[in-house]
Amino acid sequence: MKTTIRHIQQKKAQGEPIVMLTAYDYTSARIAAAAGVDIILVGDSLGMVIQGYETTLPVTLEDMIYHTRAVVRGAPESLVVLDMPFMTYQVSPEQALTNAGRALQATGAAAVKLEGGAHMAATVRRLVQVGIPVMGHIGLTPQSVHQLGGWRIQGRSSAEADRLIADAEALAEAGAFSIVLELVPIELAAAITARVPVPTIGIGAGPYCDGQVQVWHDILGLFPDLQPKHARRYAEIGTLMRQAVEQYVEEVRHRAFPTAAHATHLPAELAALYMPPSPAPDDAPSPAFAAKAA
Ligand code: KIV
Repeated sequence: MKTTIRHIQQKKAQGEPIVMLTAYDYTSARIAAAAGVDIILVGDSLGMVIQGYETTLPVTLEDMIYHTRAVVRGAPESLVVLDMPFMTYQVSPEQALTNAGRALQATGAAAVKLEGGAHMAATVRRLVQVGIPVMGHIGLTPQSVHQLGGWRIQGRSSAEADRLIADAEALAEAGAFSIVLELVPIELAAAITARVPVPTIGIGAGPYCDGQVQVWHDILGLFPDLQPKHARRYAEIGTLMRQAVEQYVEEVRHRAFPTAAHATHLPAELAALYMPPSPAPDDAPSPAFAAKAA
């Protein structure tokens, strides 16, 4: 059964935690869907974890469309949310409408996410008016990282906390179906969650949100050198991948891979015709390597 925004909203009403995870390609989307993730977010974090930029700012709408198409193919029954990249929605509600509409048509995603509070309410309202579900995103909004002065916790003073509460209320009132709270203190996230009728989805915002979102690479240890405070690593896939690739390198260098079992022989009469007398300088793994591999 296809997951819809109504299912997500019902979860808040029933007090059931919502699980959101990023994915950026067909394979990761299939895994996320099979594991039971409620919402797959094609985050513009792909600019950092897939494309290797220092921020999300260089990501384009074309990038988002390319990755979201692959995700939707991998998870056709999931609620897939496409993150609107920097400068594709901030100029005006009409710009947002044109780009969000194009993104949904081109990808098959069911909703978009955009960053910003009360000042984005008119844009959220415009998209929702024409039937485009919108997820809000407040707190640390990565597209404003330069304005915010770095990847810092937001809402620590009472003025900032009050502003974030007003932002969440404005987004909910404009029709956002849920709101991401990124890097806000636990008590503030709890207060927002209690005050807005739509689900809050936290990242680095503590346990009292209606749901949680994490970045694929962070929970799987794909960057073994980096451990964000807000993430828990459920596996060390980066280390496993490196070990596997090192083994592949070694086996190819020592002629332990591939073996005849990984390919196909010609029929015997042809093999005799074509096979050179000595097919390779050294056709077998060295005894030392064979012993180590065994
Ligand atoms: O781009 C992203 O992955 C996000 C999540 C961190 C919420 O916006």
